[in-house]
Amino acid sequence: MELQQAREQLTKNGFLDLEIDPQLDLVAEINALKKSKNAVILAHYYQESEIQDIADYIGDSLGLSQQAAETAADIIVFAGVHFMAETAKMLSPQKKVLLPDLKAGCSLADSCPPELFRKFKEKYPDHIVVSYINCTAELKTLTDICCTSTNAVQIIESIPRDRKIIFAPDKNLGAYLMKKTGRDMVLWNGACMVHEIFSREKIVKLRERYPDAEFIAHPECEAPLLEMADYIGSTTGLLKYTMKSPSKTFIVATEAGILHQMEKASPDKTFIPAPPENNCACNECPHMKRNTMEKLYLCLKYEMPEILLAESVIREGIASIDRMMEISAKAGLLG
Ligand code: 13P
Ligand code: SF4
Repeated sequence: MELQQAREQLTKNGFLDLEIDPQLDLVAEINALKKSKNAVILAHYYQESEIQDIADYIGDSLGLSQQAAETAADIIVFAGVHFMAETAKMLSPQKKVLLPDLKAGCSLADSCPPELFRKFKEKYPDHIVVSYINCTAELKTLTDICCTSTNAVQIIESIPRDRKIIFAPDKNLGAYLMKKTGRDMVLWNGACMVHEIFSREKIVKLRERYPDAEFIAHPECEAPLLEMADYIGSTTGLLKYTMKSPSKTFIVATEAGILHQMEKASPDKTFIPAPPENNCACNECPHMKRNTMEKLYLCLKYEMPEILLAESVIREGIASIDRMMEISAKAGLLG
């Protein structure tokens, strides 16, 4: 009966919403389920703090892919967004990959529908396609090499200079890479809703208030913001930078979830989330934040929602991820 109800809810909502006893110790229950089912929880830095604290591994997109490829677990519970869970499934197709909420999407992935991209690509038949991993599994079938923000520079530099490049879907990361590598690229016009929201004016004022603070930013931010930054890097890159820098205060332009690990790693330092344009919580990713402890618990208990991909999509898309993993391994990059 309960299972039937769970299936119906899943079809309707994209996640399980069954009643949970409020007395239940969710941390203990999740840990027990993990053990009995030989499951692993992989969480992105943008997840709620309590999810990060129960995860077996916390990382950026590259690190999570590396873990998904290597884990000995039978079940991967992906506390992240849809494209990340799809990537995990492509890397470990024999494993069961679960995502607590199927509606945890991504504005960047949504900004590049595969059918439109296919037509766009036809206009540049002699170009090699590099796609940011923040794209759908289907887009990966139209891609030659994937990249993440940790390895993007090395991926572009691995391509012979006489080869022309299309970069999709993030125009901001693409523009940053063009500047950094001196390569000209054709850019798809996509962006991340979270990283485009920061206010340059408010950040300038904050820097006046905290003159000793360093301003650090993710390369998904727009160029005028990146031009002001003392350091630009992936979420793992930003975290490591705050650990090794002698500075005591940082203004951080990326999704606010990363502050949890920054504060844990450097309790003596102060981290100020870069302010968005409006007085909202727009620097929180609404997709990442769809995952909750309750959904995580139900997902592990009922082993749904599960990520399922057509065999042909895995077969045609995996080469672009494998290529990325090879280049990253050669360069010794860890996410
Ligand atoms: P990284 O995990 O590569 O830092 O990218 C951030 C992001 O926006 C993930 O959705
Ligand atoms: Fe997508 Fe941006 Fe959210 Fe990352 S932060 S999942 S790129 S919408």
